[in-house]
Order: sequence, then structure tokens, then C-alpha cells
Amino acid sequence: MIKNICCIGAGYVGGPTMAVIAQKCPEVNVTVVDINEARIAAWNDEDVSKLPVYEPGLDAVVAEARGRNLFFSTNVDKAIDEADMIFISVNTPTKTYGVGKGMAADLKYIELCARQIARVSTTDKIVVEKSTLPVRTAQAIRDILDNTGNDVKYQILSNPEFLAEGTAIEDLHAPDRVLIGGDTNTEEGRAAMQALVEVYASWVPKEQILTTNVWSSELSKLTANAFLAQRVSSINSLSELCEVTEADVDEVAKAIGMDSRIGPKFLKSSVGFGGSCFQKDILNLVYIAKSYGLNEVADYWEQVIIMNDHQKGRFASKIIKTLYNTVNGKKIAFLGWAFKKDTNDTRESAAIYVADILLSEMAQLSVYDPKVPEAQISFDLNYLASRTKEENEAGVTVVTDPYKACEGAHAVAVLTEWDEFKDYDWQRIYDGMLKPAFVFDGRRLLDGEKLKAIGFEYKTIGK
Ligand code: UDX
Ligand code: ADP
Repeated sequence: MIKNICCIGAGYVGGPTMAVIAQKCPEVNVTVVDINEARIAAWNDEDVSKLPVYEPGLDAVVAEARGRNLFFSTNVDKAIDEADMIFISVNTPTKTYGVGKGMAADLKYIELCARQIARVSTTDKIVVEKSTLPVRTAQAIRDILDNTGNDVKYQILSNPEFLAEGTAIEDLHAPDRVLIGGDTNTEEGRAAMQALVEVYASWVPKEQILTTNVWSSELSKLTANAFLAQRVSSINSLSELCEVTEADVDEVAKAIGMDSRIGPKFLKSSVGFGGSCFQKDILNLVYIAKSYGLNEVADYWEQVIIMNDHQKGRFASKIIKTLYNTVNGKKIAFLGWAFKKDTNDTRESAAIYVADILLSEMAQLSVYDPKVPEAQISFDLNYLASRTKEENEAGVTVVTDPYKACEGAHAVAVLTEWDEFKDYDWQRIYDGMLKPAFVFDGRRLLDGEKLKAIGFEYKTIGK
């Protein structure tokens, strides 16, 4: 029976997941640790509207469990030593240097965690990989832990996270399935898996808790994300065909989605998928396949990324072409910066890449997102290193009022499907814009007919 859980990494995965475990297992102490002091301070903020991760419903879960059996701390060593079970939820960004640059996951942070666990532990531990990882990472963690020379025994489990941002709390409360991979060949391995099964069984029906060997679990996570991303790229590829054939991509999606073998989800055409997982996981899959010489497998999955990049570029090109082939000096309002609605996460957001292309064409961008602060938007653009920080600053203004973003603009581009955009006073926006007033709806979010009746030139994807 697990009494003390430690989670290393208080990010979008570790924070919400541990909050729900603590909420549902009041007898288990859960300590979430991070080296980022500001982040931990924000998790401990009295005012739960200031948590570092924005997720609908998360504030209530934290308010219920924090201080009771949920703790946030920067004392990593202490939490590791006291725990029976340690979740690793640190970031695994795509490598930006050396072999596998732009493809392989950078496992630096994972290895540092493993070494820290090895150094600090004085009692046996179950170590759980939570971060999305390339297949066979568990082996690397095991190698490090098993070679410490002290008598501590470790079991390594893979327990991939399937929560989607924006619906994380719902997904954690009622997951389609929980996947636990471990060493199925030994008594100790099976016992460790059982210990984690018992944690989840506090609220998840046992038949939805799946146990497999470690490699299947690791690969299933990559595969699930690759399949989901593939659906988005598939429908996006057809959106381009719809635009030239007068078919309507939403109608096509509805028609095929009613086939129960296909199903209706993940068929929403968009400016392109973003988020910390889809691209990274597919790149991992491609990299692993290539490293085993499976070039056809690698090429097959790489095409999902190629199509997604094309979709983002195509959206930017459409704006430029429609605005009479030049956006130089023209104000373009961006509604939305997050990679999807109901999150403040911007990792790999399509908005970043569309903005980058427009800035290279010397456009003046005015950005409004209900949850993303200016500092994050600057960071995202500077991270691309396409131009200097000063040049980005000169090209981008971030505002906290959507009407101000649109005032005097040649065009409005919808990059995120935030619900509030639908309810704006579009007549007021129209009155304040230069004419012709263009709207480029990258999410098929707005009522195009209504906008056209006001006088807008309304352009959307797949129609
Ligand atoms: C994804 C997986 O869904 C989740 O199971 C995994 O644990 C992490 O990766 P997430 O990236 O948070 O979750 O969000 P998701 O809802 O999958 O959306 C990813 C991207 O695809 C977003 O940019 C979204 O806007 C886009 N998308 C999604 C579409 O463009 N069309 C769709 O139909 C669905
Ligand atoms: P994810 O979406 O996977 O949760 P995030 O980047 O949101 O990724 O969160 C990962 C967190 O892990 C960050 O807050 C980072 O500071 C933390 N982290 C990385 N390495 C370590 C480490 N060695 N010890 C503690 N925390 C770490």
C-alpha cells in the first residue's frame, strides 16, 4: 500500500495529475516538487486563480486537497527520500543540438532525475515514468538506478498520461483507460504494477486499468498521439481540396464521422495542430523507426508533420495573398495564441508559426489571448530566433482588450477557438476596421454568414 508519493516536475502533467490523485486518495500524501521556485510559489498561492497552469476545474481540486495531503515544494531530495513511489513528470523537449537535433527527445532532464533519485534514496522505490518518452527510456533509467552500489531496490513503471489540456480534470476523473507498463516477468515487477493499480482503483473502474509490459506501454503513448495527429492532418489535407472543389470540410467530416468505424472526434479542420505532444511524439516515432532502419515506417509518420507544417504556412500565405500580396506595415489582429482553447499553454501553437511568417513579411501584429500573457508571446517568438528581440518587439503589440486588437486593422485572424470570440460585438469590430475588413478564421469558429451580412470579407479553412 502506497503512503507517500513524490512527483518530480510541477508542470502541465505533474500538477493536475497529482492534484487529482491527492483528491481521490486522501490517505496518500502527495508532494509535487520542482526546481523552478517561482512555479512552486505559484502552486502555493493562496489565490487559486493564480496557479501556474490554467485548467478548468483545477482550482477547486487544488483548493480541496492542498495542505491536507497535497504539497508543493522545492525540496526535491526530501520528497524523494520520503516517497514509496516517485513519478517523473519533467519536460522532454525535442533536442536542439547534436545527433537527433530537431527529432529526438532530449533526455537530459530525465537522466538528471534518475541520478538524483539514485543519490538520495535510502529505501526501496517504485519509479514511474509519466512524461512522454521515447521507447526504451525505462531501460536507461533502470541502468542508472541499478548501478548506484547501495542496496536500494527499484521497480520502473511506465504510466503514460493521456490527459488533453483544457479538459485535463475531466480526463483524469474519468479516463478512457489507465495504462501501466512494468516488468511482468518477476514477482517484484508485478507487485509494483499492482501498487499503482490500487492507487488508480480508488476512482477508476478496474476493467479500465490496463497492464502491459513496459515497452508496449511506452510505444502505446506515442502511437495514440500519432493516430490522433494523423486524423487532424488527414482532415486538414482534405480542407485544401475542399477549397478548390466547393466541397465543405465540415460537411465531409460529419458525413464520414457518422460511420461508427471512423467516429466523429479529431476531425475538426484547423490552422494546424500544436501542443507539447503531437509533434514531439511523432518525431520520436520517426527517429526510433529510422534508427532501426525502418525508413518506410519513418516516412509514413513524418508525412503527418509535413502536412501540419503545410497547413500553418498555407494559412499565412492566404492572408498575404488576400491582402493584395503585401502585408508590409499592415495591422493584423490575432485572436488567440494558445494552441487550443481553455489552456494558457502555447507550446508549438500554430499562432507562433503564422505570426513568424507574417512578421517576415513586415506585418504589424496586435495579439489578444484571454489567458496568455505578453511575456509568453515574446518568449515564443524570440525562441524561434528568426529575428532579433527588438525586431519582434517592433512588430508585435500584445493587448488585453480584443476590440483594441482589432481597431484600425486590415484583417482579423482567429488562431485559437476560444468560446468568447463567438460572442464579440462583431459590428463594433467591423466599424473600427479598415475596409475591406477581412476575417481569416483558422478554426471555423465564427458564424461566417452573420459576418458577411455585417460586411466582412470572411475567409475560412476548407470552404
Ligand atoms: C494530446 C492528446 O490528446 C492527449 O491524450 C495526450 O496526453 C497529450 O497530447 P493535447 O495536446 O493537450 O493532448 O490536446 P489535443 O486536444 O489532443 O489537441 C492537440 C492539437 O490538435 C490542438 O492544437 C488542437 O487544436 C488540434 N486539433 C484537435 C485540431 O486541430 N482538430 C481536432 O479535431 C482536434
Ligand atoms: P509537462 O507538460 O510535461 O508537464 P512542463 O514543462 O510543463 O512539462 O513541466 C516540467 C517541469 O519539470 C518544469 O516545471 C521543470 O522546472 C521541472 N523539472 C525539470 N527538471 C527537473 C528536475 N531535475 N527536478 C525537478 N524539477 C524539474
